[in-house]
Amino acid sequence: MVTALDGMAFAAAQAARVGWFLAEYRLSARMARGTMPKAEGLAGGPQTADILADLRRLFARDWRNVRAGFYRLPHDLLPRPGRLLADSRRYFGDLPQVNRRRRGWRSAEVSADGAGLPDYYLQNFHFQTDGYLSDRSAGLYDHQVEVLFGGGADAMRRQLLVPIHHMLGARPAEGVRLVDVACGTGRFLSFLKDTHPMMPVTGIDLSRPYLAEAGRLLSPWRRVQLVQAAAERLPLADASADIVTCIFLFHELPRDVRHRAAAEMARVLRPGGQLVFLDSLQLGDRPSYDGLLEYFPRAFFEPYYEDYIRDDLIGVFAGAGLAFAALDHVFMSKLLLFEKP
Ligand SMILES: C[S@@+](CC[C@H](N)C(=O)[O-])C[C@H]1O[C@@H](n2cnc3c(N)ncnc32)[C@H](O)[C@@H]1O
Repeated sequence: MVTALDGMAFAAAQAARVGWFLAEYRLSARMARGTMPKAEGLAGGPQTADILADLRRLFARDWRNVRAGFYRLPHDLLPRPGRLLADSRRYFGDLPQVNRRRRGWRSAEVSADGAGLPDYYLQNFHFQTDGYLSDRSAGLYDHQVEVLFGGGADAMRRQLLVPIHHMLGARPAEGVRLVDVACGTGRFLSFLKDTHPMMPVTGIDLSRPYLAEAGRLLSPWRRVQLVQAAAERLPLADASADIVTCIFLFHELPRDVRHRAAAEMARVLRPGGQLVFLDSLQLGDRPSYDGLLEYFPRAFFEPYYEDYIRDDLIGVFAGAGLAFAALDHVFMSKLLLFEKP
């Protein structure tokens, strides 16, 4: 049961959060000056005021969901200032390296041992230091993503908890097995476990350091399994999952790998099971954002993004045997729901 006081705390905390991350975004853009291509494509794209209004809508929706009981107030609503400052210091300490890579369009500075990992993965996505292959990268990632989305990344991730709430209905969570493919540092799973502590969950990712970070974040909860594996070759039995989730993965995969990952998700779902999927908007989803979608991979190293924004996701999952159930736009991303017949 949330109270009016919770509502005030939520509004104040999220306003401070957005203010903080947008200020860091602006400072980052200033530091990146001269390394970013000119943003002509943005002439018809969303203006700052439109993005701010969309962010406000995202947090209004986040709060309505909390009030409706779909999920709990964010477990980190009140950030620890010392931690936030330390994260910011590390983020800005690393930024010159990111900008140096962007200036020279260097995307193959992944020095850590990538033995056994696929070539498409061994790159500096977003020009980030060490790609996905170091503790340092894992420690910076959450902050980098929040700066990119003006503080809205976690709120976008939480929107998956709404269809999951409806799927569960009166069923006890302990009987429902969820697999989060490309769980990264475990942000989504932390919100899920906070709301459904008894649900057994498996997080899959290719990055050992990111899985280690996820392990630390998820340490307060039991029934959490973290496994290093590829989305396109899931080490799970057929029909072994009730729910599969996948957040911000597909735009980082080459087309053939993307389609194989979709087939794997369909394979591991049981009949009647559901896939809850979140990733970037695609061209035409919200035409006012098209300019920004075209611009993004020219400013951030995202080698498969241009193809992703043109891929027919509903067709891809239909080809894998999943029936389309719902589509929703969530700030800069789209939430898709599929069911295995
Ligand atoms: C943009 S991050 C998204 C992480 C997380 N889902 C989130 O909400 O932030 C992409 C993640 O996908 C992982 N990844 C990339 N390719 C993968 C693959 N083929 N199989 C499994 N994980 C992969 C990366 O290691 C990284 O953690």
